[in-house]
Amino acid sequence: MPESTRHLVAIYPGTFDPLTHGHLDLIERGVRVADQLIVAVLRNEHKSPLFPVDERMAMLAEATSHYGNVEIDSFDGLLVDFARRRDATVILRGIRAISDYEYELQMALMNRRLAPNIETMFMMAGEAYSFISSRLVKEVFRLGGEIAGMVPPGVEARLRQRLPPGS
Ligand code: PNS
Repeated sequence: MPESTRHLVAIYPGTFDPLTHGHLDLIERGVRVADQLIVAVLRNEHKSPLFPVDERMAMLAEATSHYGNVEIDSFDGLLVDFARRRDATVILRGIRAISDYEYELQMALMNRRLAPNIETMFMMAGEAYSFISSRLVKEVFRLGGEIAGMVPPGVEARLRQRLPPGS
């Protein structure tokens, strides 16, 4: 396809329970290389998420509304099937530290086996965010620690509603 007509659709999949500044950093990097970035929330209730899918999607929509080329969607089943349905050719994933690598490599190779035409692209999270994970944010918040600067203000407000102090 000639360069001028190429339209790169990338999927950034995840659990996003909840969205953090680490995720937003990846989204910011992703929109610079993709023409359309679909942030896709996994609908997997087996993971017992703190936030229902609709609320996770709402938090993402609020925090990304200033981008013209970001769409929020959700999926269940195989990620590659969703990518095919959405005509995406790239799966975007972030790597924070070497500890992420093994899991990410395994997923990328499995997805490549299932769908050879879909490429996984890794991006390094900004070093300021490399220690942030949704799991740790929830843990610190539950235990009364300060999470300002790790999640957008709207996410912090929702955490406060879901996990009132002393709960
Ligand atoms: O934010 P997470 O929890 O690290 O995201 C994991 C996710 C959603 C990318 C992964 O669990 C996934 O793609 N699940 C869909 C099921 C699937 O396609 N499995 C086979 C590929 S390894």
